[in-house]
Amino acid sequence: MANRLFRKKTVEHILASAQSAKSGELAKVLGVRDLVSLGIAAIVGAGIFSTIGLASFNGGPAVSLLFVFVAVACVFTALAYAQFASTVPVSGSAYTYAYVAFGELFAWIIGWALILEYAVSNMVVAISWSQYFVSMLAGFGIRLPGWLTMAPAYASEAYAKVQEQGIESLSKIEQTAALAYEHAPRIGDIPIIFDLPAGLITFLVTWLVYIGIKESRTASNIMVAIKIGVILFVIFGGVFFVRPENWTPFAPNGVGGVLSGVAAVFFAFIGFDSISTTAEECKNPQRDLPRAMILCLLICAVLYILITLVLTGMVNYTELNVKDPLAYVFEYVGMDYMAGIVSVTSVVAITSALLVFQLAQPRIWMTMSRDGLLWKRFAQIHPKYKTPSFATIITGLMVAIPALFFKMDFFVDLTSVGTFFAFILVCAGVLYMDYSGISKQSKFKVPYINGRYLITIGLLLAVYGVYIFGQDTIAEWRQLSWRDMLEHKMLTIVFWLVWVVLCVMGYIYRFSLLPVAGILVNLYLMAQLGASNWIIFIAWLGVGLLVYFGYGYKHSKLNKMENATP
Ligand code: ALA
Repeated sequence: MANRLFRKKTVEHILASAQSAKSGELAKVLGVRDLVSLGIAAIVGAGIFSTIGLASFNGGPAVSLLFVFVAVACVFTALAYAQFASTVPVSGSAYTYAYVAFGELFAWIIGWALILEYAVSNMVVAISWSQYFVSMLAGFGIRLPGWLTMAPAYASEAYAKVQEQGIESLSKIEQTAALAYEHAPRIGDIPIIFDLPAGLITFLVTWLVYIGIKESRTASNIMVAIKIGVILFVIFGGVFFVRPENWTPFAPNGVGGVLSGVAAVFFAFIGFDSISTTAEECKNPQRDLPRAMILCLLICAVLYILITLVLTGMVNYTELNVKDPLAYVFEYVGMDYMAGIVSVTSVVAITSALLVFQLAQPRIWMTMSRDGLLWKRFAQIHPKYKTPSFATIITGLMVAIPALFFKMDFFVDLTSVGTFFAFILVCAGVLYMDYSGISKQSKFKVPYINGRYLITIGLLLAVYGVYIFGQDTIAEWRQLSWRDMLEHKMLTIVFWLVWVVLCVMGYIYRFSLLPVAGILVNLYLMAQLGASNWIIFIAWLGVGLLVYFGYGYKHSKLNKMENATP
C-alpha cells in the first residue's frame, strides 16, 4: 500500500510525456522580461490594493518591515521552484514537482493545496475588485444599494456593533454596512445581502477564459503597465501629502500587531511561483526562470514597502481599516480627483489579477485529471475554443458563489496557510532531490551552502536571541501550564521541533542551507496564522484525502501502468 501511495513519476517519464503531448510543440518565446511581466501580472492584486489596509491598521508603519521579511522567505522558495522548473521543465507547477520528489499522495495534497492558492485567492481578488468598483461608481455619483455590495456577515456584525456601542463609535464603512443590514429587503426575517459586483466580475472573467482569451505577451504587458502605473501614481502622488509624524510610533501595537498582518502581506506576494508553469515556453528556462522570479520579487517588495510608507505617512494608521486604501488616502487628504483616478485604474488592474489565476486553476485540474487523479471531464477540451471547458466552468462557480456571500479575511488566511504549506514542501523537495541524486539532472541548482553545522548554529543563535530579546515572551511561557502550552503555543512548539529535526537530519545528510532556511522561515510565518486557520486547513486536506482515496488512488495512470506490468 505504502509503495502505491508514494509511487513516483520519473523525470524521464514526465519529459517523455511532455514531448509526446501537444505541449511539446509550444513555442519557446519567453525571455526574462516577459516572465517578469507575467509574474507581476499574477502577484500584484488584492494584496496591495486591499488587504494592506487592515495589516497597516493593526501593525502601523512597521508593516513595511514585514514586507522585507516575507520577501526574503519568498526568495528562498523561488530558488527552490527554479531548481524544480529547470529539472522538470513542464507546466504542472508544484504539483508535478511533488510527483517526482515525494510521490503521488503528496502530489495530490499539493495539487489540493494549490486550489487554495489559485481559486480561493481569487475570491479575495473578486471581493477587492468589487470594493474598488463600488468606490469608482460612487465617484461618478452612482450609489449601489449597500445590501448589493457586501458579505451578509459583515453587515450583520456592523449592525450588532451599532446596537452595542451606538452608530457614532463606528468607522464610516462600518456605518454603511450597518445601514445596509437595516435597509436590506427581507425574506421573512432574513435580510438579503450579497456582493453582486464580486460575483458578476467572476462570471465575466470566467467567460473570457472559457472562450479562450489568450494571455498574449502584449496583453500581459499592457496590464502590468497599468498596475505599475497606478502604484507609482500613488507613491509619487502621495509622497507630497506624507506627514512624517504619522510614522511615530512606528510599531504602535508591537511585534504582535505587525505579525498579525502576516497572512495579508504574504498574500500580496502569492503568484510569483505561477511563472514556473511557463517553463516549456521559455527560451532558456534554466537561466531565465530563477532570474525572473527573483526580479519579480524584488520589484514587488520595493513597491510594496514604498506604498506602505506612503499610506501610513499620509494618514494615521488608525484610519486604514478600509477596503480601498489606495483610493481612500487621497479622498482623506481632499484630493478627490486623484482618488477617482486610482479607483478607475485599480478596477482595470485588479481585473487582470483575477484573469491570471482564473486561467491557471483549470489547467492544474486538467493536469491532475490527465494523470487520472481527477475525473476525466476535468481534462475535457472545448472543441471550438480549445480550452479546458468543464474545469473552467467549475472554477468560475467555485470562485463566484463564495465571493457573493463570504467575508474577505477568511479567504486571505486560508489562501496563505495553503500556500505556505505548498512552499514548504517545494523547499523540502530540493533536499530530497539532493539526497536522491535527481539534482544531478538540474540545470539550475539552489546555491549549495553546507548546512551540516550551520543549521544547528542558527538554532543556537535563535535561542540566544530569544533569551536576550524575548524575556517578556519567556515570562509569558513560564505562566503557562503544560496543557495551556499545548493548547495555545502548539504551532510555535512545532516550529522549534522541526528546527531540531532539521539540525539532526542536516548533520547526517549535509543538507543544503538555503532550502532549510526556506522551510523554517515559511513555517515560522505559517505558525503566526493562528490555530483556527490551521484547523480549517487540516479539514480541507481531510476532504482532499477523501477525494483521493475515493477516486484518484484507483484511477491513477501510474496505478494502471503498475497493474499492467506485474
Ligand atoms: N498576490 C495576489 C494578490 O495580491 C494573490 O491578489
